[in-house]
Amino acid sequence: MQAVILVGGEGTRLRPLTFGTPKPMVPIVGVPFLARTLERLYEAGIRDVILPAGYMPQAITEYFGDGSRLDMKITYVIEDEPLGTAGAIKNVEKHITGPFFMMNGDVLTSLDLRAMIAYHQEKGGLGVLHLIKVEDPSSFGCVVHDESGRISQFIEKPPKGTEPTNEINAGTYLLDPKVLDFIPPGRNVSIERETFPRILADGQRLYAYTTEDYWIDVGRPEHYLTVHRDVLSGVMPLEVEPGISGAGAANADCANLIAPVHIGEGTMIAREARVGPNVVLGKNCRIAAGAAIEDSVLWDDVVVEEGATIEETIIASRSTIGANAKIGKGSVIGHDARVEPGTVAPEGSRIGPSAPIGAR
Ligand code: GTP
Repeated sequence: MQAVILVGGEGTRLRPLTFGTPKPMVPIVGVPFLARTLERLYEAGIRDVILPAGYMPQAITEYFGDGSRLDMKITYVIEDEPLGTAGAIKNVEKHITGPFFMMNGDVLTSLDLRAMIAYHQEKGGLGVLHLIKVEDPSSFGCVVHDESGRISQFIEKPPKGTEPTNEINAGTYLLDPKVLDFIPPGRNVSIERETFPRILADGQRLYAYTTEDYWIDVGRPEHYLTVHRDVLSGVMPLEVEPGISGAGAANADCANLIAPVHIGEGTMIAREARVGPNVVLGKNCRIAAGAAIEDSVLWDDVVVEEGATIEETIIASRSTIGANAKIGKGSVIGHDARVEPGTVAPEGSRIGPSAPIGAR
């Protein structure tokens, strides 16, 4: 079986991080997000992956190449213009040889893909959609189905209080190639808004596969931090040890590490710094004496100078936080940023480049 993973979005909600790193390459505990998805596909026996890309594609192609390092075959199809979620799969039609998984490239889930294949074989129809239940479905695509799982309706972002169900589209589909016949070529088409409703209107069957798996869309800064908390605490199982973990943990000379903390290779933390809980430090970071970091994710080569404080913040590679700077909760700092000593960045600050670095 094949899988098509959509990796062409601009990731506007993760800016300024995505000005320097496309969303699929944003690290989850030091490993590009897309690598996590490919691992899951590999575990389910899927080796043939098609990546419709468009935004900063070279960052993806350079890292994964033809896939042979992962014992997979990766085919890239680069869009000149964004084609949308359905347009992107129509554009890779010639590579599709049978039923295939289609996945949003920004979903982290513990969904059992083999079980979903078995469900599709049992139900038939043109496709199966993974659904999950959420408390507030009003900001998602709601999917209504009957007891047999057959889907009857799609309702995008219903106003609060009018939601017909709390089951939402979780962004993993198993599709029959006939779905491609419902997508007009050469233009931007949304699978959620246009193609799935058109399939239902034609009397064809789509089935819901509702599970209680871990599921999150990492495309928003607050979700990105939640994912890291969940991985560090073991709620989302990835190969991260509990407590103080990572290749840099052994040489971390810090009396004030508050678990869970993950420390990348080559990272140095001064003894008098306070780091944790829920902190991930990338490779070769330098954390100076008196600095305090809590509930935050720092990518590689980040320098935090004396006395700086950082809370609920994401900092991209090669940035420097000057001495005694205070970074307010919910801040996002892009690549190569320099926060001057003593700066007080209010909550929710966005600091960094204001335009893509080498994009499209
Ligand atoms: P935001 O701008 O923050 O909404 O992020 P996004 O651009 O990634 O959009 P969204 O989160 O809605 O996209 C869901 C998934 O579809 C992501 O994996 C995107 O990479 C992917 N995607 C969205 N639009 C396109 C497109 O036009 N082409 C391709 N190939 N992928 C897309």
